[in-house]
Amino acid sequence: MIAAIIAAAGSGERFGASIPKALIQLGDRSLLEHAVSAISSVADQIVVTAPAGYEEQIRALVGDGITVVTGGVTRSESVRLGLAAISGADFVLVHDAARALASKDLISRVVKALQSGDVAVIPGLPEVDTVKVIDANGYVSATPDRATLRRVQTPQGFSYSVLKDAHAQPADATDDAALVANAGHKVRIIEGEERALKITTPQDLTAALQFIGSADSFSTGVGVDAHAFAEGRQLWLAGILWPDEVGVGGHSDGDVAAHAICDALFAATGLGDLGSNFGTSRPEYAGASGVTLLKETHSVISRAGYSISHVSVQIIGNRPRIGARRAEAIATISQALGGAEVAILATTTDGMGLTGEGKGIAAIASALVIKSA
Ligand code: CTP
Ligand code: MG
Repeated sequence: MIAAIIAAAGSGERFGASIPKALIQLGDRSLLEHAVSAISSVADQIVVTAPAGYEEQIRALVGDGITVVTGGVTRSESVRLGLAAISGADFVLVHDAARALASKDLISRVVKALQSGDVAVIPGLPEVDTVKVIDANGYVSATPDRATLRRVQTPQGFSYSVLKDAHAQPADATDDAALVANAGHKVRIIEGEERALKITTPQDLTAALQFIGSADSFSTGVGVDAHAFAEGRQLWLAGILWPDEVGVGGHSDGDVAAHAICDALFAATGLGDLGSNFGTSRPEYAGASGVTLLKETHSVISRAGYSISHVSVQIIGNRPRIGARRAEAIATISQALGGAEVAILATTTDGMGLTGEGKGIAAIASALVIKSA
């Protein structure tokens, strides 16, 4: 029996999105879904470690038949918690959700090497840079022979008892093979692959897109919305509530920034507009919040195979002052759009026009989307 642990409990600090890295979209699916799909071709049992608070969302994403456990503070701790949910396995594969594009072929080669007798098998690629060992003062203390170095990847495969033994003590290392080697076991290196790169930064995501053949199919769109101020209404703008401001009219919450972004996304993907997707023919969306419409728009375009590279919106009006709450608004919108990069700007119009006369608020948005092949 082959079990697999997919480590997905990291926050993705270096990536810098407002959602955990494993939930970032790559083409038509999240990193985690890519990893699950490849590993399910060989594993009989799969355990996913989720960031605390995201367990339900991840359960819904990966579906029944996959165990979701809460991860730990370090990757090693997450793997230990995942391991505790496994019983009766011969082999365990430990894989990073961040290595979303590791191929089925690589995963099967790890398993084959285990089946032919190695107790620990890890993929690695030759190092191309010269690597230095440095001391605490920033001076070079050694230059290992580059020919003896490998950049190692996941999935790393182990005999169940060997991995259990290595994790018996709560030690910490950046991979499981280090713990297994420390426990005195031999670790075999097999040939890795470039597409199993670890997605750490947004640049890595762009590199990963090359492997799924969608790097070239970008498209853009623009969306505009405006609403007049209406006394007695709350102001919702850019996904958040502005308590001391006058609201705007409209049959929804009147969030012009959210609406402009939705239309920019529909424009970029050619999938209609806000009205045709959520208009009067869809009464369930009457009065829907800006965030709900952003989420729904994201799901419509995702189903059509698009992912969002970037959206920006410029809010035009005398009030409110956006600056102080910009970060909060960006985080809210980014979260509604599956972690997309978001920019929010604001301007007045020097007293001219509808917004300059203080009659309402307008917004202009642009979106850059990627179509997966
Ligand atoms: N991971 C985990 N539990 C942790 C930390 C990391 O399960 N406490 C997982 C991550 O979700 C990722 C893999 O281990 O799939 C490799 O870690 P890394 O690429 O470092 O991801 P993050 O820790 O999320 O990123 P960062 O270090 O930038 O915060
Ligand atoms: Mg990390």
